[in-house]
Amino acid sequence: MSVVAKKAKRLLRGVLLMSALTAAVAQAAPRDLIIDTDPGADDVVALLFALASPEELKVRAITTVAGNVRLDKTSRNARLAREWAGREDVPVYAGAPKPLLRTPIYAANIHGEEGLPGIPVHEPKKGLAQGNAVQYLIDTLSKAEPHSITIAMLGPQTNLALALIQAPEIVNGIKEVVVMGGAHFNGGNITPVAEFNLFADPQAAEVVLKSGVKLTYLPLDVTHKVLTSEARLKQIAALNNNAGKLVVDILNAYVKADMEHYGLPGGPVHDASVIAYLLKPELFSGRQVNMVVDSREGPTFGQTVADWYNTLEQPANVTWIDSGDAQGFFDLLSSRLARLK
Ligand code: RIB
Ligand code: CA
Repeated sequence: MSVVAKKAKRLLRGVLLMSALTAAVAQAAPRDLIIDTDPGADDVVALLFALASPEELKVRAITTVAGNVRLDKTSRNARLAREWAGREDVPVYAGAPKPLLRTPIYAANIHGEEGLPGIPVHEPKKGLAQGNAVQYLIDTLSKAEPHSITIAMLGPQTNLALALIQAPEIVNGIKEVVVMGGAHFNGGNITPVAEFNLFADPQAAEVVLKSGVKLTYLPLDVTHKVLTSEARLKQIAALNNNAGKLVVDILNAYVKADMEHYGLPGGPVHDASVIAYLLKPELFSGRQVNMVVDSREGPTFGQTVADWYNTLEQPANVTWIDSGDAQGFFDLLSSRLARLK
């Protein structure tokens, strides 16, 4: 073999080795994650999804907030999801019982009085962790390695906003915040223009936005494109495990309201899209935009305005996701639920 061929062979072997090492390192380092949530039907699906994915997501804690229902129920439901996932190693900290400024609103008409439609609930064996979620965020993020912890934000942003107001320096511990929330192209779900999580505490969302933390939003623009169908729910039911049955029963009850309201063939699983994005971002696409939140009283209260075409030429402050691979989402969700009991 010529000298050139031998050198080429050595170079190729080196490249292949490097790519294998890179893949191994990438695979080996699970993402440090805190899930802030107001369970909530789709929140519970998201929690099962995340807790079934320990190779990629090291869930340090679940922090709860009032939102879909009152704080005592969102906290109980987070503990239920943890129990169903067999992950009682993950602490649940209860946080803010109400928004920063506005009068509290809830969505029991959608999520049921217990915040979990379609299934019976019970008092989980394991209780809450000691201490408030806001203090937990401050203590954890202020001690964390620089930009090492991701926050999955599945409800109103009150806990993180309160932590940022008390200890602005915690932004240094945050890698990024991935938010289910907002709406631009196709209107809102709680008012003609506002999405529930933003409407429930727009001032909190403004505090987080102004902190300069790296932000990705998965708004209704994308979650209304990732819809259930009979086939997709059958795919989950076919897992023949408790987790699959819980998710099918929850979703069958949860999506009815959206299907009727929007005349859709299926319903969104909003919060679970955040977990799918963290696990497989290539399922989604969007662009860096300038986004503002309207917190003025009136018809646009809670509206998010995403400058998709950069009309105002303001600096981009969020990654705004507007599309996703729906079947890819359900395939990934099903494959992770299959791991649970
Ligand atoms: O608008 C959808 C969002 O509001 C989801 O997070 C759902 O759980 C509710 O909190
Ligand atoms: Ca939620």
